[in-house]
Amino acid sequence: MDRIHITGGAPLNGVIPISGAKNAALPLMIASLMTGETLELVNVPRLADIASLSRILGNHGVDHMVVGKRPGQTTETGQTIRLTASNIIDTTAPYDLVSTMRASFWVIAPLLARFGEARVSLPGGCAIGTRPVDLLIMAMEALGAQIEIDGGYVVAKTRNGLRGGDIRFPKVTVGGTHVALMGAALAHGTTVIENAAREPEVVDLAECLIKMGARIEGAGTPRIAVEGVSRLHGARHEVLPDRIETGTYAMAVAMTGGDVTLENTRADLLHAALDVLATTGAEVTTVPDGIRIRRNGAGIAAVDVTTDPFPGFPTDLQAQFMALMTLAQGRSQIRETIFENRFMHVQELARLGAKIRLEGDLAIVEGVERLKGAPVMATDLRASVSLVIAGLAAEGETQINRVYHLDRGFEALEAKLGRCGAQIQRVRS
Ligand code: EPZ
Repeated sequence: MDRIHITGGAPLNGVIPISGAKNAALPLMIASLMTGETLELVNVPRLADIASLSRILGNHGVDHMVVGKRPGQTTETGQTIRLTASNIIDTTAPYDLVSTMRASFWVIAPLLARFGEARVSLPGGCAIGTRPVDLLIMAMEALGAQIEIDGGYVVAKTRNGLRGGDIRFPKVTVGGTHVALMGAALAHGTTVIENAAREPEVVDLAECLIKMGARIEGAGTPRIAVEGVSRLHGARHEVLPDRIETGTYAMAVAMTGGDVTLENTRADLLHAALDVLATTGAEVTTVPDGIRIRRNGAGIAAVDVTTDPFPGFPTDLQAQFMALMTLAQGRSQIRETIFENRFMHVQELARLGAKIRLEGDLAIVEGVERLKGAPVMATDLRASVSLVIAGLAAEGETQINRVYHLDRGFEALEAKLGRCGAQIQRVRS
């Protein structure tokens, strides 16, 4: 298994191009199932999760083409893919595929809306929490689907297509909102989604669906109204920048010190996280087409954070922020409200010398003067990258195992950091 070796202590200086957002690209790819015409997606990151979803869509019969490189394109500028679902051969999403990629459960909505049936495996357990799909099923039922659970599969059917309905989510769910949007777009009549997720990835999906002919109003607010249409058509859509990748590198610079411009990204995608970073003492400025982060000399102030749905502080940046706080001057409290088991990085950060105490959903971090490198590993993507950040700031060598987690969500991680002065290498084995 590959490992990443880091020799810590070097500040980061330079420019990092930000990739297209994994968590926007995944639902956009799934939306290709909603039309027989071609959906062209631009700025799709080259990631293991994208490749897995391509295989899953291929299993349904979606034709997948990667457009050849154009002059000036590098492997880090994202790829353009064309997805065509003109010939669906299978409306079943099997366990061995869905269990590798939870988001693939979302195919239930377009399959049901377009073909009147779907048989999708329940995804099973997950490293960061129980992550049930009850609210996604509730949304499909509100649109008139009949649903049974059979042999670990959700078997969903409609007699005469989906019907518009009222969907009120008792808690904010990104996947639930994606599924509700896709189902409602091809349902007969009007759907109102209340307490909808406001995440930028939901807005990106809605914008793509609108280009495909859907009638959607209010995406980005807690109330989305959808007027169903009988068919959608092909479109071309550019995936929005990855706000979690942006925030991750911003936190890395805040921790190691230095001066880095994050290119091809937008501050409005992560205001809450950037405000917190500024409070820790980092200098955050917006520049044309990006964000500049600087921290020179000054120490890191301790700041308390609670994760929340957008526009709050994202759970997907909680582990990275905790890494930063391990070197803060004083004590910070980090509360995780979205997932019940998302502190798997705590014991690994402790191996580098961090002082963190857990009390239920609260992590209490006592800043230390220095971290020292060690071999570590993590159980999910964001936890793994928090160890990379901590390793960059630690003294000596850090070795990160289970690199496949990083490959799921960070495009060209070593190349991007390496060009900014980080001593980071992948060791293949
Ligand atoms: C998306 O997951 C993201 N994944 C996650 O990113 C992200 O952490 C999460 O949203 C929250 O922002 C993708 O976009 C592919 P939810 P999702 O439904 O949609 C509970 C990463 O590292 N819930 O918003 O699955 C759920 O258990 C990943 O890139 C139910 O109770 O998350 C959680 O506590 C990890 N029943 C809360 O809602 C349901 O039916 C929010 O989950 C659905 C969700």
